[in-house]
Amino acid sequence: MELTDAAPFLRGLALRNADDTGARAYVCAAATTAAPPAGAITLTLGAEDDETALQTLLRAAYEKSGPGSARLFALQAPGQTLLLATGSSLDEAWSLLPGSDAHASAAMRSGTSGAPAGNGAHTPEAAQAGSARAQALSAAGRERVVEGKIALVTGGAQGFGEEIVRGLYASGAVVFIADLNLAGAERLAAELNAAAGRGCAIALAMDVGNEQSVAAAFNQIARRAGGLDLVVSNAGVLKAGAVLEQSLADFEFVTKVNYTAFFLIGKYAGLMMKRQHQGAPGYATDLIQINSKSGLTGSNKNGAYAGSKFGGIGLVQSFALELVEHGVKVNAICPGNFFDGPLWSDPDRGLFVQYLRTGKVPGAKTLADVKAFYEAKVPMGRGCEGPDVMRAIYYLVEQRYETGQALPVTGGQVMLN
Ligand SMILES: NC(=O)c1ccc[n+]([C@@H]2O[C@H](COP(=O)([O-])OP(=O)(O)OC[C@H]3O[C@@H](n4cnc5c(N)ncnc54)[C@H](O)[C@@H]3O)[C@@H](O)[C@H]2O)c1
Repeated sequence: MELTDAAPFLRGLALRNADDTGARAYVCAAATTAAPPAGAITLTLGAEDDETALQTLLRAAYEKSGPGSARLFALQAPGQTLLLATGSSLDEAWSLLPGSDAHASAAMRSGTSGAPAGNGAHTPEAAQAGSARAQALSAAGRERVVEGKIALVTGGAQGFGEEIVRGLYASGAVVFIADLNLAGAERLAAELNAAAGRGCAIALAMDVGNEQSVAAAFNQIARRAGGLDLVVSNAGVLKAGAVLEQSLADFEFVTKVNYTAFFLIGKYAGLMMKRQHQGAPGYATDLIQINSKSGLTGSNKNGAYAGSKFGGIGLVQSFALELVEHGVKVNAICPGNFFDGPLWSDPDRGLFVQYLRTGKVPGAKTLADVKAFYEAKVPMGRGCEGPDVMRAIYYLVEQRYETGQALPVTGGQVMLN
């Protein structure tokens, strides 16, 4: 048993009376070798105690601890002590941990180290301080469904992931930005935290296809915020290739990141959300997979990608059946092409440049010709954009009576049958 596993359960206890549009409970944790600080509620665990025993002890102690959101617990197990602080903001929780000031100001500066210094419930004014693009992503009114919530976005450093990070942040969520590209995630977190004047975005290194890396990142989330309300599994890769030509290595690379990784994210997010739910039965959380229109219809010379996305929907439907008892809704969003994102528009490696060079679009002489060719395939005449995906996220979080669905956001290009 990892003592950190107590953090989501404790957050659940603190969330018991929150309705699901008003999450305002955060837990910060830190190991210590010193004696527990005065005022800490100390719980001593025996070598034989399992997680159920720990939860029973913690629940009894929490219930006895009286009113107010701020509490400090010291969990003592043979050879280790973990301090756990609760608060109605990350600032409040973190301030209870000894030596927290230094950590908090470091986090403010870098947006990454120590604990996040922010208040999850950052005010609309703080959100307004974000970029115009971030503000545009915050659809009027409905975005409040994520205000104060703790979210994780994988592959959040660029593309759709970055759009989702900016949208959630502008809507008042605390956002973990997990990416293979840690420098990119750190840059984005620093930009958002500087705009808000405090830390509400936290960069995390994560390789979604590597179990150790995923497990370590979830452990960090447990320590820094105590749990998650929304996981957006967005990281994905594309390597086009015909079945008669593609190498097995390329096929397996795409399958690992787009398909296998969702098993890992589902497993570790599910475990964290289950623990939270044990503390707060009735509290609903969301796991959302960013799929693709290629998860709904085949894709010529792109079988590895389409296959991984079709498989992703199989996992979404199956995990939805399994995790419903733990209060987790599991759904997919299937966006159309994001023509303005790096995958299509990168000036050196983007698909528009590649398709122009290889003559894939008959008669196209310029990048604009290639783009117009693909836009013409969309009944609504344009590519999918960040705000389109954000509206789908707000809908799925708000909807309490749906799970296991794949929601197309394709401008009419792909229709369900
Ligand atoms: N771009 C589109 O037109 C489009 C359309 C439909 C669906 N999608 C889906 O949207 C998601 C994002 O696509 P995008 O076009 O924005 O991609 P992108 O290439 O612009 O960004 C992907 C991000 O994921 C990160 N990443 C890649 N492998 C990772 C790994 N193993 N672990 C952690 N992070 C990793 C990258 O560093 C990058 O920051 C994908 O799931 C993709 O299939 C994209």
